[in-house]
Amino acid sequence: MKIYGLIGSNKKNGTCYSLVIELIKLIERIFSIKGIEVIYKIDYVCDFNIKECKGCCNCFKNGKCMINDDMANIKKNILESDLLIIASPVYLNQITGTLKKVLDRIAYWTHLMPLIGKRGIIITNSSFSGNKESTDYLELILNHLGVSVDYVFKYKGNGLNKNQQHYNKKELLVYSNIFQNLDFKIDKRVTQIFDTYSKWYSQLIKENVDIDSNNELIFWNKNYLGKSIDVVHKKNIQNLKKRYKKNEYKK
Ligand SMILES: Cc1cc2nc3c(=O)[nH]c(=O)nc-3n(C[C@H](O)[C@H](O)[C@H](O)COP(=O)(O)O)c2cc1C
Repeated sequence: MKIYGLIGSNKKNGTCYSLVIELIKLIERIFSIKGIEVIYKIDYVCDFNIKECKGCCNCFKNGKCMINDDMANIKKNILESDLLIIASPVYLNQITGTLKKVLDRIAYWTHLMPLIGKRGIIITNSSFSGNKESTDYLELILNHLGVSVDYVFKYKGNGLNKNQQHYNKKELLVYSNIFQNLDFKIDKRVTQIFDTYSKWYSQLIKENVDIDSNNELIFWNKNYLGKSIDVVHKKNIQNLKKRYKKNEYKK
């Protein structure tokens, strides 16, 4: 299984990083008991050259962002992952601007839902406030991208107690069963968003809107229209199964 951890903190080896690495190491240990090999990659957004969205809306129209920077790298890592861990400290009651910049750049993905089938974990950390606002926001955006969120961790405090275990081992053992059996549930909101778009794009096709000039219509028509989300989800999970079988994830 491939895990991609994306950190929105601008501080190296801070609380956010400690929470992410502790969780991944624990998942690695617990999942290995079930014979699931874990490969992980952690990136700090602040290590990349990410420009701000210019608001041209070309991505919505043509499915391509005109800005040439490191976003392609982050997008590739997200698309190749099975489990996306997204983590941010709270800055002024919200996620950091650094992380928001990345989310703005994939705003057009929320119309395409390319991440259906992927799992998500959200971690936020603050001194004392804003965890709810930040995790609620990240969950909303991940769901719009198609990700079903399995865990939300909200940490309060300045720094971590290195001798303390911050995650529940039993819960993670149950979680490993779900990966072992590929028995994933789809978040209710992901289904609702999928159904809303399906209806909308089907209607546009009925109204004879020119498909060839509309990237979103081309995408939905090719990949999703006429299918239920269960079928789409199953297909994406089957791909994951194939990757397991081929042992594509050998280190
Ligand atoms: C600019 C800035 C704004 C912050 N705003 C909040 C806030 O609104 N509420 C809060 O509880 N903590 C706030 N904090 C504290 C951080 O969320 C907290 O120190 C966090 O653990 C830092 O994580 P890191 O070590 O991974 O960078 C803020 C810190 C900074 C630098």
